[in-house]
Amino acid sequence: MEKRQELYAGKAKSVFATDDPDHLILTFRDDTSAFDGERMESLARKGMVNNRFNAFIMEQLAAAGIPTHFTQRLSDTESVVKKLDMIPVECVVRNIAAGGLVKRLGVEEGKELNPPTFELFLKNDALHDPMINESLAETFGWATPEQLAEMKALTFRVNDVLKRLFADGGLLLVDYKLEFGLFKGEIVLGDEFSPDGCRLWDAETREKLDKDRFRQGLGGVIEAYEEVGRRIGVGFD
Ligand code: ATP
Ligand code: TYD
Repeated sequence: MEKRQELYAGKAKSVFATDDPDHLILTFRDDTSAFDGERMESLARKGMVNNRFNAFIMEQLAAAGIPTHFTQRLSDTESVVKKLDMIPVECVVRNIAAGGLVKRLGVEEGKELNPPTFELFLKNDALHDPMINESLAETFGWATPEQLAEMKALTFRVNDVLKRLFADGGLLLVDYKLEFGLFKGEIVLGDEFSPDGCRLWDAETREKLDKDRFRQGLGGVIEAYEEVGRRIGVGFD
């Protein structure tokens, strides 16, 4: 497959066309952002770690019957994916209270959420990814009720698969964000699943092993991503 022109450079990944109109190449860069891009830093090895982490997770999800855009890892920092028409809505599931939920509702960080919660956010940096709901998504045409129902069902199926996978590595999947898109009319999981877009805590000590290390200036960010990867079986060499 031939890599062609860059179509888009996001905050952490770049998207390239290929000679196949149905496929793109995603490159995972070392760039790391937080607070809607207010804080930007380059963290050595992050692109490689997240590309390998994401490939491993997408393969696990596909094996569990979840439709994903992931096709193959091309190199340390590049993967081939199906070209999706992205739905500009982010789906968030929370198993344990942290981050935005704690700030917004004043609940205690670490509280177990039973049943897990499901939230929607509009993918719009200029508006700081505001929280939305099904009604707003339908009215403004971001997604149909049928698409939203499918996205919600898939997001919870991902929870079943990944909660168990991380638990086997002694980790708690606290929360995570998924993005979906359409491929020939079908809802497919897109973007990435890596410690950049989820929270993972050590099950014993509750040590944070995800992007909160960057957000909170705790250091050891990529070392933590690698530690998580090793515990669930991601190969980094
Ligand atoms: P954010 O960090 O809020 O997700 P961003 O645009 O800065 O936004 P990046 O991950 O840097 O995010 O960029 C990757 C872009 O590629 C995102 O806009 C994402 O929605 C898009 N994307 C991911 N997978 C696909 C796909 N299979 N087809 C088309 N676009 C995709
Ligand atoms: P949340 O606690 O709402 O956000 P924040 O901590 O940034 O205030 O996020 C819940 C989870 O979803 C967390 O693991 C981060 C992830 N997420 C993203 O990666 N990008 C996003 O745009 C959003 C809304 C969430």
